[in-house]
Amino acid sequence: MTRYMVTSALPYANGPIHAGHLAGAYLPADIFVRYLRLKGEDVIYICGTDEHGTPITFRALKEGKSPREIVDYYYEHIKTTFARAKISFDYFGRTELPVHYKVSQDFFLKALENGHLVKKITKQAYCEHDKMFLPDRYVIGTCPYCGAEEQRGDQCEVCGRPLTPEILINPRCNICGNPITFKDSAHYYIKMQDFQEKLRKWIEGNEHWKPNVRNTVLGWIKEGLEERAITRDLNWGIPVPIEDEDMKGKVLYVWFEAPIGYISITIEHFKRIGKEEEWKKYWLSNYDGEETRIIHFIGKDNIPFHAIFWPAFLMSYGKFKDGNGEFEWLLPYDIPANEYLNLEGKKFSTSRNWAIWVHEFLDEFPADYLRYYLTAIMPETRDSDFNFKDFKAKINEELVNILGNFVHRALTFVNRYFDGKVPERGELDELDRQAFEEIEKAFEEVGELITKYRFKDALKRVMALAAFGNRYFDYQQPWKTAKTDKQRTATTVNVSLQIVKALGILIEPFLPDASEKIWHLLNLEELKKWEFTEIPAGHKVRKAEILFRKVTDEDIIFFIVKHIARGNPESAKLLLEKYYKMDEVVKVTLEKFGKERKDEAMAILKSIYKEKLEKKEKKKEEKKVEYVKFDEFAKLDLRVGKIIEVEDHPNADKLYIVKVDLGSEVRQLVAGLKKYYSKEELVNKYVVIITNLEPKKLRGVESQGMLLAADDGKNVALLVPDKEVKLGARVH
Ligand code: 2FM
Ligand code: ZN
Repeated sequence: MTRYMVTSALPYANGPIHAGHLAGAYLPADIFVRYLRLKGEDVIYICGTDEHGTPITFRALKEGKSPREIVDYYYEHIKTTFARAKISFDYFGRTELPVHYKVSQDFFLKALENGHLVKKITKQAYCEHDKMFLPDRYVIGTCPYCGAEEQRGDQCEVCGRPLTPEILINPRCNICGNPITFKDSAHYYIKMQDFQEKLRKWIEGNEHWKPNVRNTVLGWIKEGLEERAITRDLNWGIPVPIEDEDMKGKVLYVWFEAPIGYISITIEHFKRIGKEEEWKKYWLSNYDGEETRIIHFIGKDNIPFHAIFWPAFLMSYGKFKDGNGEFEWLLPYDIPANEYLNLEGKKFSTSRNWAIWVHEFLDEFPADYLRYYLTAIMPETRDSDFNFKDFKAKINEELVNILGNFVHRALTFVNRYFDGKVPERGELDELDRQAFEEIEKAFEEVGELITKYRFKDALKRVMALAAFGNRYFDYQQPWKTAKTDKQRTATTVNVSLQIVKALGILIEPFLPDASEKIWHLLNLEELKKWEFTEIPAGHKVRKAEILFRKVTDEDIIFFIVKHIARGNPESAKLLLEKYYKMDEVVKVTLEKFGKERKDEAMAILKSIYKEKLEKKEKKKEEKKVEYVKFDEFAKLDLRVGKIIEVEDHPNADKLYIVKVDLGSEVRQLVAGLKKYYSKEELVNKYVVIITNLEPKKLRGVESQGMLLAADDGKNVALLVPDKEVKLGARVH
């Protein structure tokens, strides 16, 4: 039986995982592996974080942290995120494992022993300002192959070629921006020429590879392979394992040791489950007479490293010897590489936060939604686009309306008419028979498509069965036959439930949670096999439940405001403006954040809309004026009076008791003026009072009216007539 060793590219432990990563190398591998497991194949799925090299040290430098802090943090972060996305690795390790140091150093030493390495002193990029060598990402400049500007010294993001700092045009230091200089440094180089012919033949023979991978690589090989440095001047990584003054403080090149991580992490995995020798069956050719296929799922930027360098490193080792004999390392059987995923038409960018971060997305949406959508748009043969409107449409119109709806209908009917027990079916009509044929075909075709890495089509095929289910149900009209022909209804419900069961299996590789829910609703024991067997009549199922709820505009707005705006309000603005008016965004945000988090919501909204929102708020304030009818105003009796006596209020620090002469009577008022006027200032002052305000007790003393005063929040000033008038004069 063929064995499978499946890997996904080891992600750098220098940042979170975004949807582009997931769609490129992890989700396809997971679908593949889940399918193989259900088929009962012997398969191991290995991954882990890539924790060395300038991607790590550069990030550490930018964040003011140590490389160790960065990798420890992101190892946990990435591992958790994958678990939440239901990526089912057998083991998720890391290249900081001690076993990885050992195996990587062993590979170096074996290549050296076999004469494939050569030490050379060459001019290496150096920054006089930062006083250091500048390997890989520490240099930026123009790609000599395609002319793309601002490319980092390890690889051109535009044409995909591996680069070195020395060949960049207009190279600058990526830390300080100054032009670089060159300084002598000794390094080990692998003689790629040694493997040129063997690689070419091997790749030409790999006719089952995706054409995009095979053709690109063959093109590069034909141009000729050159020596490539596999050590670096860097203070973070795996030390070069030889006693040599020249190699002091130098480390193995990350792209030399990272793929070896696939092996070392497998070794660690088997050690942890107490089967120390087992890894050999997966990595060594013909170790026990069974064939193993090593399949590396990667994104297209990783193609040269997996299809040229990595196989060359495996060849450079020569034979692996143990007590059982001498064995060649297995070369990759296949390297399915995906193209890129864009976000709303533009490339994902970490620095501009133009990205869907998986951990954030999963805070708001179920893993199945992300998996469904990313599979539906998987960039298998060309770049594709993550688009929020499309996301909403695919979830609502396909997942909810087709799959969710069908499962719900079948379960509702068995409960409504048959007390939740799968009814015995009667004679099958043509459509019933077709249903069973459809099930059988679906199993075959979905499996076939998955093994060809055509995941998008495979998912479509599963959904086609769900759509068939709905059509079947509509045609048989069990709600009508229930009144006329119970036997017919029983057959329809029975067959529908068989389709539901088939869907529960077929959907597992894509949507493991939905599969589990369907299994639970059908009240079946653990799903173990990619094989359809009927649910027997009489089996009791559970009550219908909603499988998926619809995605609303509110959900999308909330996600963008809460998550994307936090990292970059500009990106959030661009996304929001594409679909929504500001008013709607404000309304939804305030509702979703709720009263307690209103301030937080407003702060985010202001960061997105800035002046536009402030202007709007001001206008609203102005509009808020409430008009008073003249009659109502006229009801107020305002009169001029003179303060004749002021005393402290016995029970309140801020209040005075003031007596005011209105000519015909003297009124007693309680006024909060103590902070603003002394008693002397007040006595003899002419003031305006409201005389017909309902009398009220203030801290036990009656106040028979109110003094008019202006209050700007800081200061309080009494209103006084600016000429002498008679006491008791009416104010209007
Ligand atoms: O491109 C990347 O993210 C690399 N860390 C992938 C490494 S894959 C393997 F070779 F380790
Ligand atoms: Zn280029």
